[in-house]
Amino acid sequence: MLSGTFSVGGRDGYEPKLTAVATGSHIDAIPYSGKYDGVVGVLGAIEAINALKRSGFKPKRSLEIILFTSEEPTRFGISCLGSRLLAGSEALAEALKATVDGQNISFLEAARSAGYARDEDDLSRVFLKNDSYSAFVELHIEQAPILEEEGISIGVVTNIAAPASIKVDFEGNGGHAGGVLMPDRNDAGLAAAELMLAIEKHATESGSLDTVGTVGILELYPGAINSIPSKAHLEIDVRDIEESFRNAVINKIHKAAKSIAKKRKVTLSEFKIINQDPPAHSNGSVIKAVVDASDELNLTYKYMISRAYHDSLFMARIAPMGMIFIPCYKGYSHKPEEYASPQDLENGVKVLALTLAKLSLR
Ligand code: GLV
Ligand code: MN
Ligand code: MN
Repeated sequence: MLSGTFSVGGRDGYEPKLTAVATGSHIDAIPYSGKYDGVVGVLGAIEAINALKRSGFKPKRSLEIILFTSEEPTRFGISCLGSRLLAGSEALAEALKATVDGQNISFLEAARSAGYARDEDDLSRVFLKNDSYSAFVELHIEQAPILEEEGISIGVVTNIAAPASIKVDFEGNGGHAGGVLMPDRNDAGLAAAELMLAIEKHATESGSLDTVGTVGILELYPGAINSIPSKAHLEIDVRDIEESFRNAVINKIHKAAKSIAKKRKVTLSEFKIINQDPPAHSNGSVIKAVVDASDELNLTYKYMISRAYHDSLFMARIAPMGMIFIPCYKGYSHKPEEYASPQDLENGVKVLALTLAKLSLR
């Protein structure tokens, strides 16, 4: 199957007409990341289903494992490509026709060379209907320190925060770093620097502790020590669990970009919102299955919000969704020090297996 998912296995249920229960995650990663983000939800799913097989468990609904492509935005500039497509994003299916990576390889060429693409003009054929799965559940490291600090084994996710990403370009005249006097410059790099500080201020002062704003990409052109930046490109990530707080900050960032451009006599040549996703809520019956599984395994658990996004954010649009978090060392993630202990991994896989078993019998 092109694009969205690669089904890596599963277990047939004894009532094949019933919709399946799905689980899975991603194995792509950002540069210089860790080894656990996403991978735990894929290898953990394989092990959970193998453990159910070994135990002789017979699922009523089939169990399916999904390995999502491009959860991280690194390669094609937008997050969760696979799950967004599966959930039926017409706009994305259209936009991907013209989307290329840093090497100018198009999304479709990449899919073809990986053996997925059949019909390159119609990505919409991978869209899933609502309720194609009776449930979707994802195992993931917490990516924050709460479970470890509180000594709790399992996080039961209730909501996933609402992420947005924005691309901004400022353009100025550039010029020689020695020849152009300070009063005569319109430095695109300085406009970017000022916008970065404005983003920090607006995220910090949003009125919600949950608002976060990050500039993770800053590129200056032409990129020579002795040349005034003629262009600055920024990529901005803004999130909150409440859409209204996040959107208010995005509006303020846009206003700030316009007024900085005016003050510094540069052009704001792009202010493009790449995605502005609504938050997702876990489904009550999936939450209950995770809680019951944790109870039966005598594992402590806590309800929690996911401040990171996941493929589950989009799977929630087409299936009742839930997530299982396990602790990770100091909450580290998106850096090489990311780590989850064998015991925590085992706990997570056991809870996933039992949750899948429960959901498969409904
Ligand atoms: C996922 O990788 C995220 O950035 O939340
Ligand atoms: Mn990640
Ligand atoms: Mn992840």
